[in-house]
Amino acid sequence: MDDLSILSIYFYDETDSTNERGLELITAGAPEYTLLVAERQTTGRGRLGRKWVTESGSSLAFSVILRPKAEEIPYLGFFSFLGALCVCLAIEEKCAAKVEVKWPNDVLIDGKKTAGVLAESSFQGEKLAGTVLGIGINLFKGSVPPSSGLRFPATYVQAHCSAIDSREKFLANVMKNLFYWRPRILDKAFIDAYRQRLAFRGRKVMLLPSGREEVKGVLKGVDDSGKLVLEMKNREEKSFVAGDLRIRIIPPQGVGYGKEKP
Ligand code: BTN
Repeated sequence: MDDLSILSIYFYDETDSTNERGLELITAGAPEYTLLVAERQTTGRGRLGRKWVTESGSSLAFSVILRPKAEEIPYLGFFSFLGALCVCLAIEEKCAAKVEVKWPNDVLIDGKKTAGVLAESSFQGEKLAGTVLGIGINLFKGSVPPSSGLRFPATYVQAHCSAIDSREKFLANVMKNLFYWRPRILDKAFIDAYRQRLAFRGRKVMLLPSGREEVKGVLKGVDDSGKLVLEMKNREEKSFVAGDLRIRIIPPQGVGYGKEKP
């Protein structure tokens, strides 16, 4: 499987969202690894109903169709981790910068967001038809939206790494990593590779579930099922599924923290 090549690539000068196009292609029977790339998205979407802005010429926006097997269905959350890990590895191959994942689906360079992942699944009745793994990367200058619209400080890959010079080559590297890790998604090595890159370990965080009460604790890690583990005030450990959770980093007392806001 490692040397598998992509069967089809769909390229859009402009589309609403490559994830939306991917969900349609799942229904139409497109095979695993079908790749959809957009120069510009008019309604690119992010996690929790957020917008994702794709600036033409400087960003990468693409989606890959995956067909999870029956034994992978309880671990659908791992598909977002897969996208984030593959982006981290593509950056690490070229850059000395500190590359991390902000659970569950953001890629950070030196603590700033540089890529986001949105995995969406399509069901036919009760049956999973497929998953579209959408990845947006701020690659070059001009890809980062104005800071007023941001919830978290953002950056672009080339600011940390001049060796990145072509969107095509970078995309090819992400795909190479995807071909390697996708068949290994249930291996312990996969979740370990994701965990190794987990940001904010040991930091106090606040989880903000929509419509429910916030939870505060110290971020301990991610367990084998992909849940986030926090140590609560009473020293008890509790784990949380990503679902609709937003995570906010609580700054050490007296220190301001970028632009993160609830
Ligand atoms: C996030 O940070 O919340 C996830 C952002 C995911 C953006 C990508 S860009 C390609 C694909 N198409 C979309 O509409 N969204 C994903």
